[in-house]
Amino acid sequence: MEIVLSGIRSTGHLHLGNYYGALRNYIKMQDNYNCFFFIADLHSLTTHPHPDDFHSGVRTILAEYLASGLDPEKSAIFVQSDVPEISELYVLLNMISYKGELERTTSFKDKVRQNPDNVNAGLLTYPVLMAADILIHRANLVPVGKDQEQHLEVARVLARRFNSFYNTEVFPEPKAFNFGDDLVKVPGLDGSGKMGKSEGNGVYLCDDETTIRKKVMKAVTDAGPTEPNSTMPEAVANLFTLLNIVSSKDTVDHFKESYNNCTIRYGDLKKQLAEDICKQTLPIKAKIEQIYNDEEYLKRVVKRGTEQARESASATLKEVRRAVGFRSFLGFDDK
Ligand code: TYM
Repeated sequence: MEIVLSGIRSTGHLHLGNYYGALRNYIKMQDNYNCFFFIADLHSLTTHPHPDDFHSGVRTILAEYLASGLDPEKSAIFVQSDVPEISELYVLLNMISYKGELERTTSFKDKVRQNPDNVNAGLLTYPVLMAADILIHRANLVPVGKDQEQHLEVARVLARRFNSFYNTEVFPEPKAFNFGDDLVKVPGLDGSGKMGKSEGNGVYLCDDETTIRKKVMKAVTDAGPTEPNSTMPEAVANLFTLLNIVSSKDTVDHFKESYNNCTIRYGDLKKQLAEDICKQTLPIKAKIEQIYNDEEYLKRVVKRGTEQARESASATLKEVRRAVGFRSFLGFDDK
């Protein structure tokens, strides 16, 4: 069975971008693959969260994973920092990762632009840690959104490079995955760019109905088309992208037609969009709080997931250490 791995950083609540770009695929893949899903708490440290908030951030993602339908009977669900094998592989992969190639990744360049005062080494080697997450389980498929495509490319390069450097075949080349075809980019409601946790333009799985309606009704549009079949401005195209993701084909066709013959009323489109988002997210929201507060359940889930993850990770690391040439005087490599 092919191995699937993916994760989300613990930097706030999950939004529609996380859900439609990644999480929904995790849920669909659980029945047909050997799945590992985790919470990327080490990755979240690049932005220096306060220690008092750190654990609740992890717990939030865990509860939202489970409320969305991740099933601990089907998938190994774990927290990145509970699997130390990942960090060891990260060190080893760092030795074959080059500053120039890491500096060229778009996400690094964006972060440097956004936060010039916090260009830490963890930010530069973010894709290497991500590669370690993936390669430690020798994953074949990685369900992610469009913004992670380049990071996946780094993981593929490092898998190939490690194999040829150490003359081994320990790592398969992982592939970014989406059901259908292209990876998804969920736009924000503010007219341009993607939906993101730090962009303040998101609809969250934990939002209530009133909040969702308010956010969607406030979404940026324009004065409306004046000529038949005119090109959509980005803000309007983004609303159609969202509609495509959450609504039925009939609904999308109906609003497309009314756009093309200039009879569209954006208010109606937004109302429909809000309703269709609510249909998908409110059943998830209803479960989040109860799961978040069920400490015993969360412990059981993570205990089981961590055992499975560590078993898989330590088997890989053993081969990796052999390939690199470690032979411990203390017998660590014989176990
Ligand atoms: P993070 O937390 O930024 O994003 C988690 C997942 O959500 C997807 N995503 C989106 N998809 C479509 N449209 C959007 N607007 C949108 N916003 C977020 C992301 O593509 C991602 O799949 N580095 C990863 C976390 C990670 C990881 C890994 C993923 C760490 N190690 C190993 C896969 C494999 C990240 O950016 O998380």
